Amino acid sequence: MKDIKLIDNTSESELLKVSAPIVEALRNASENPTYQFHIPGHTKGRAIYKDFKKLIGEKVLNLDTTDEFDNLGTLHPATGPIKEAQELASQAFGSEKTFFLLNGSTAGNLAVGMALTKAGQKVIINRNCHRSALTGLMISGAEPIWICPSRIEDWSIWGSINAEDIEKTLQANDNVGLVWITNPTYEGVVSDVKSISKVCKKYNVPLVVDEAHGCLWNFNRKLPETALKLGADVVVHSLHKTGGSMSQSSMLHIAKDSIVDADAVEKALKLLHTTSPSLLLLASLDASRAVLQSKSGQALLARTIKNAKYLRERLDNIPNLHQLKTGFGYMTDVTKVFIKIDGLSGKRLESILEIDFGIEVESASDIGVLILCNLGNKHSDFKYLADSLEKIAKTNYTDICYLENRKHMPMIAPKIIMSLRDAYYADKEIVSKEQSIGRISAEVIAECPPGISILLPGELITEEHLPYLNDYNSLEVVKNK
Ligand SMILES: Cc1ncc(COP(=O)(O)O)c(C=O)c1O
Repeated sequence: MKDIKLIDNTSESELLKVSAPIVEALRNASENPTYQFHIPGHTKGRAIYKDFKKLIGEKVLNLDTTDEFDNLGTLHPATGPIKEAQELASQAFGSEKTFFLLNGSTAGNLAVGMALTKAGQKVIINRNCHRSALTGLMISGAEPIWICPSRIEDWSIWGSINAEDIEKTLQANDNVGLVWITNPTYEGVVSDVKSISKVCKKYNVPLVVDEAHGCLWNFNRKLPETALKLGADVVVHSLHKTGGSMSQSSMLHIAKDSIVDADAVEKALKLLHTTSPSLLLLASLDASRAVLQSKSGQALLARTIKNAKYLRERLDNIPNLHQLKTGFGYMTDVTKVFIKIDGLSGKRLESILEIDFGIEVESASDIGVLILCNLGNKHSDFKYLADSLEKIAKTNYTDICYLENRKHMPMIAPKIIMSLRDAYYADKEIVSKEQSIGRISAEVIAECPPGISILLPGELITEEHLPYLNDYNSLEVVKNK
């Protein structure tokens, strides 16, 4: 299989054809320099640590600017090339309106909580949501009504969210402001969003889908269907995770026919965002959308899927290696490969891959490791990975140092004693981990990855939590009156 080099394959003329207005405006600004008496004060890298400049390159610093200047447009309100770029992204993803996010999908989730929920309202949300969604609810004062997805016990991960569970919860609760689900899971398990969206429409409750890990789906039929096509009202995408943009850059889409107040979302985004957005990050969102739409970008994604399939076929032939895949009763995204090897914890496998083979994976749990098949990976990367895993599976590696009683994927149904927000703002005290058993948590404990909550403010701390808290000596709890 021939490797694709993105930069080489995406010819300038092709990029121009698909058009990337922020990229063009930035190029124009760099070709027509002005005397700069504005932020950022390093002034094109002239006043910056030399080694840093050498490391990242003068050009990057030259282009490091914010909105308002050099005809680059503004983010809030969206004007000029930034507005144009958001409109092009909206067309590409099939939304009514798209907002560019800095501070990642976290910013999108905060805005959803802030704009679309209210104090006292209930929000039906999956327990394995990202902590940013909960921060959104802490801002508004809405209360989560937890949905626990199915459990895939032998992999120690959450499975899919059941539409019937959502319907039952909607029937059992009034004053539900929002149904908010995560799809896919970090490990690539896909829920039936179509059925969930049907239920939401029946009860006239908006559906928000945190599709942080699924931003490529709209660009290849072999990937699952994006929630924007399945009836969600709002969708959040971490373009920087798998879409090819730079770290921290994401998008929030308001769907066509959405029943949410898009203006409220826009206002919340304005308040939550930096007032000095990085043009480099914005340009990278513009560029990644242009690539995904371009012919070579589509070819690149097709090859990525082919490479993922190649990797999976190779892994299928390693006797003591197992991979999570569609066909085990779940739909999965082929590009997210979660594997385990008999006799090795995921953490041990991760360290063998890193130390003995120079391979870094996306994440590891006590059970397995998560491999992302990315647009930028070459076929030879996958071959090397498969060869290495074959060698590891044949070698008698021991697991000794990783047999500690530590768990990574929080899968505990919470015991809620106080409201999320009340507990977060309550008087607090710090107690030792041992003394915290039986007390009410006053902090969010949700380590990344995967950013899924172990404990939230207002929840009872029990012995069950201990295997997840190895890195904590003390915890913040609500002060006894
Ligand atoms: C499901 C989900 N939503 C949101 C986020 C936050 O994304 P970002 O890192 O882009 O802020 C993450 C991060 O891992 C996530 O896994």
